[in-house]
Amino acid sequence: MANVIVIGAQWGDEGKGKITDLLSRSADVVVRYQGGVNAGHTVVVQDQIFKLHLIPSGILYPNTECIIGSGTVVDPKVLLEELDQLKALNISTKNLLISETAHVTMPYHRLIDQASEEFRGDHKIGTTKRGIGPTYADKSERIGIRVVDLMDPTGFREHLRWTIEYKNVILEKLYNLPPLDPEAVIDEYLGYADRLRPHVVDSSMRIYEAVQQRRNILFEGAQGTLLDLDHGTYPYVTSSNPVAGGACVGGGVGPTIIDRVIGVAKAYTTRVGEGPFPAELEGELGKLLCDRGAEFGTTTGRKRRCGWFDAVIGRYAVRINGLDCLAITKLDVLDELDEINVCVAYDLDGDRCLDFPSNARLFARCHPIYKTLPGWKQSTAHCRSLEDLPTQALDYLKFLAELMEVPIAIVSLGANRDQTIIVEDPIHGPKRALLHDTKGQEVGVK
Ligand code: IMP
Repeated sequence: MANVIVIGAQWGDEGKGKITDLLSRSADVVVRYQGGVNAGHTVVVQDQIFKLHLIPSGILYPNTECIIGSGTVVDPKVLLEELDQLKALNISTKNLLISETAHVTMPYHRLIDQASEEFRGDHKIGTTKRGIGPTYADKSERIGIRVVDLMDPTGFREHLRWTIEYKNVILEKLYNLPPLDPEAVIDEYLGYADRLRPHVVDSSMRIYEAVQQRRNILFEGAQGTLLDLDHGTYPYVTSSNPVAGGACVGGGVGPTIIDRVIGVAKAYTTRVGEGPFPAELEGELGKLLCDRGAEFGTTTGRKRRCGWFDAVIGRYAVRINGLDCLAITKLDVLDELDEINVCVAYDLDGDRCLDFPSNARLFARCHPIYKTLPGWKQSTAHCRSLEDLPTQALDYLKFLAELMEVPIAIVSLGANRDQTIIVEDPIHGPKRALLHDTKGQEVGVK
């Protein structure tokens, strides 16, 4: 039995969907523990493309139980659309379970997210405008609506009548928007409730039972470490905790049940929305990575900002998540390049920094210090083992592993399931400590 957390080690969009899909093969239960429909996973199975926002990609395996955990925020309308999409493709959704204590994203959350971004002007975060921040804000303010409330028509009516009255003041007076009709919202959402009811459970109890039965549990993080509300590049973050620690809170489990933490990082870096990005590439090279990597958001369609691999944030992700190993994705995107830079440190006003500053204004003044490696100038899309890789590609991976001080367990070279090199079984292979030699060697691909 192994209970594993998979997290994004950068600013999200690392290709976690493909890696969790691969690992879901040996999982009995997959738990999504935070975030909402701001996330987007693209999974490709035999040329069929699945775009999922809330439902864990484990749903594509007929016997895997998929849990949308307590720490998530659930937009019922989008969730039902996803369920319909899967059913239309003959994928069974009977194993989808939704936590009764997850919070519900309501229409006013979306409206407030959109309006507040406009209101902020130059200070905007660049959110997905899916109502995520306002849903979590209501949770903290203790006026949120949980799935369990949505399942109770009388309580829901009562709660929503006064909540909408309150939100209408904000919509009308602060944002100059028309008020919402509480009865129309109530009717719409009670309709969703009827359809979702068969899936609603006490999720932490289900996970606890799975632990007792020694079933394999995969905790799937959305977004990435640097978007974490507490540990990311605040304020340009999301409103939940994508870091590994979030899996325990958002799943409702104790940390002692976790066996492994796997970080997913792209072979380069991307970021969507606002905020400093020292290794960002503008011009032709940035465009090349964007085009070759199809770097457009699954949820918003926004063009992602692209840059070189940033080992400063990478090392931070290793530390803050306690990573055991890494999955490096999209290596093939670098195939055509003559030379590849890796950001090994930052220059901040003449000082060399190995960590990023917490102050966003200082972070914006950081300049990348690069180490340049030769490119391999040939396709890697067909490679299925380390031996198949060109020497320069292998050297690049070794360099990343040495910088990050964790072994690379998986290398992904394309969107399809088979375009993958499994270096080491990330779940059942030896733990990091066993692979780690004191000189920092042998920590990477062997
Ligand atoms: P929010 O989560 O919609 O509030 O957006 C806050 C920040 O997180 C913005 O910079 C978004 O672009 C970013 N973000 C949210 N979800 C994702 C994701 O799944 N991938 C990458 N960035 C995301």
